[in-house]
Amino acid sequence: MPRRSMLFVPGNDERKIRKSCDLNSDSVILDLEDSVPAGEKERARELLGSLLRELSWGGREVCVRINPIYTREGIEDLAYVAKWDTVSCIMIPKAENDLSFIYRASGKNLFPLIETARGFLRIEDIARSEGVVAITWGPADLALSVGGSLDAYENNQFIRALVAMVASSYGVDAIDKVYFNIDDLDGFRRDALEAKKLGYVGKTLIHPKQIDIANEVFTPSKQEIEWALKVIEVFEEASKSGRGAARLGSEMIDVVHYRIAKRILSRVPKTS
Ligand code: COA
Ligand code: MG
Repeated sequence: MPRRSMLFVPGNDERKIRKSCDLNSDSVILDLEDSVPAGEKERARELLGSLLRELSWGGREVCVRINPIYTREGIEDLAYVAKWDTVSCIMIPKAENDLSFIYRASGKNLFPLIETARGFLRIEDIARSEGVVAITWGPADLALSVGGSLDAYENNQFIRALVAMVASSYGVDAIDKVYFNIDDLDGFRRDALEAKKLGYVGKTLIHPKQIDIANEVFTPSKQEIEWALKVIEVFEEASKSGRGAARLGSEMIDVVHYRIAKRILSRVPKTS
């Protein structure tokens, strides 16, 4: 399942929730955590419960972000979400430990958000928990947890690469952080391209304007597909004559390039 674009929608905002049904993000993340004020949590759960019975997202992935699982609100959210059939995935904010118990209790896919210092130190325990299908990270909460600045954490390439490496080590999707400036679409595109280069397969989003760009960036481009097809052709031809390395224009290619090419083609959506 592609997760190129995963749009957050505040769980207490009926208009935006209804709107999200007609948008083309690969996933929606209906949020019960930080976009819902403390006094609105119960109302948001009830609203979501009734809208989930009524609305359809046309087979797209529907996730719910619950409150942190070590809070009363988080435990209540989990009890609700476990009963909502339309929801296939639970996003776990401020994940810090093995999450297998949530998968066992709910039967839903898990999507942890690594956004505390402790979460980072235990990122492998989190990523290898039962039911985890993807991981992402949150620079704002991370900066808060460490006492650093948002800017330093948002642009931290070490953390960004680490999350992608852990995701690939445990066979789950690496999904990049949100980009907070809604009006800077060029900046959003650059940010998404950087994430793609590090191995991310998609991004969490906060506004519908970001969807098309994310879908485009995280879909292999025409040039990437052409390169991949050429590499496969040249490498397979070379293999037939017992050679492991070959020339493609001025570049040497071998089995690594062949595997990269195969992976690029595996990410081409079935419909295109
Ligand atoms: N999901 C669905 N629809 C959205 C949306 C979202 N995340 N963000 C905006 N829209 C809709 C708006 O409702 C509006 O449609 P309308 O005029 O028919 O109501 C349209 O897209 C344009 O929105 P715009 O006026 O540019 O934005 P806004 O001022 O209404 O909202 C935010 C701005 C930031 C409050 C809003 O984008 C938002 O709530 N984002 C998600 C926040 C979130 O969940 N954060 C938690 C994770 S970090
Ligand atoms: Mg957060």
